[in-house]
This record gives sequence, structure tokens and C-alpha cells, in this order.
Amino acid sequence: MITFTLNGRKVETDAPPSARLLDVIRDEYLLIGTKEGCGEGECGACSIFVNNLLQNSCLIPIGSIEGAEIVTIEGIMESDQFKILDESYSEAGGVQCGYCIPGMVMASAALLAQNPHPSEAEIREGISGNLCRCTGYNMIVDAINLAAKKGDGLWQKK
Ligand code: FES
Ligand code: FES
Repeated sequence: MITFTLNGRKVETDAPPSARLLDVIRDEYLLIGTKEGCGEGECGACSIFVNNLLQNSCLIPIGSIEGAEIVTIEGIMESDQFKILDESYSEAGGVQCGYCIPGMVMASAALLAQNPHPSEAEIREGISGNLCRCTGYNMIVDAINLAAKKGDGLWQKK
């Protein structure tokens, strides 16, 4: 059995140690906000936090996360930071098909927690691990900029 914390709850799984964390959280815990895009660590659609660090869950074998704290997009949805990101993405038109958005929101939250007042270049760098095939990125950059302004004081360093 592998025991870990998932969105604040202690869980255990008997999935084989080589099973991908992405598959376990989607198939066993039905947390389907985390998406599979490339399956190779290139697109960021599967982004989650492992011990507060942004990671690609498609690259993580479940056997390596014993005792870790895992947070998925569902785990941040009640936060004030999420509400600001949600509003900002809507206002800036940053959501088109939506497939990349959970991963983008996780990357946005990670960026703003580290750097509450990012420059445009820093925003682009912060989401450089996340691919979007629809928006051309400009509206996503606008959304993060807007979230930084709206959430001034909320984006604390961890
Ligand atoms: S599905 Fe994990 S990085 Fe693309
Ligand atoms: S909104 Fe469609 S992939 Fe980003």
C-alpha cells in the first residue's frame, strides 16, 4: 500500500508502484480536472502540486510519492486565489476549449505564489511548461496579469 495526502485527505492505494500518479488520481479518485495531453512531460495539462512544487503527474510513478502531499486543481478550487484566477481568466478571454486550463491555473497559482508581481516576461516564463493550442497565450498572459492586480496582497510567498 502507498499512503499519501490528496487534497488534504490521507489516502492509500494498492496501485502498482509503477502506475502513473496521473492515472491514479483520475481513475481511482475520480479527480478528472487533471488532464492528460502529451503523456511525456511536455504539455503541463497534468500539472499538480507535490509538496507545494508544480509537477507533471504523467511522469511520477505512484511508488515515489509515499508520504507526499498532493494537491490537484480540485484541491484549490475553494481558495480565494482560485476565485481570482477564475474571474481573471474569464474576463481576459483566456479560456477557449479549456483543455489546458486546469494545468494553466495550477502554473499560474505557482507563479503568483512565488512572484506576486510578475513582469510579462516572467509570466511567459512561468507558463512555459504549459501548452495551449487555442489562445496564442496572449489572453492567458493578460489573465495572469489581471489576477496579480486583483489579488494584490493575497499571493504570498510560501
Ligand atoms: S500530460 Fe503530462 S506533461 Fe503532458
Ligand atoms: S484553451 Fe484550448 S488548449 Fe488552451
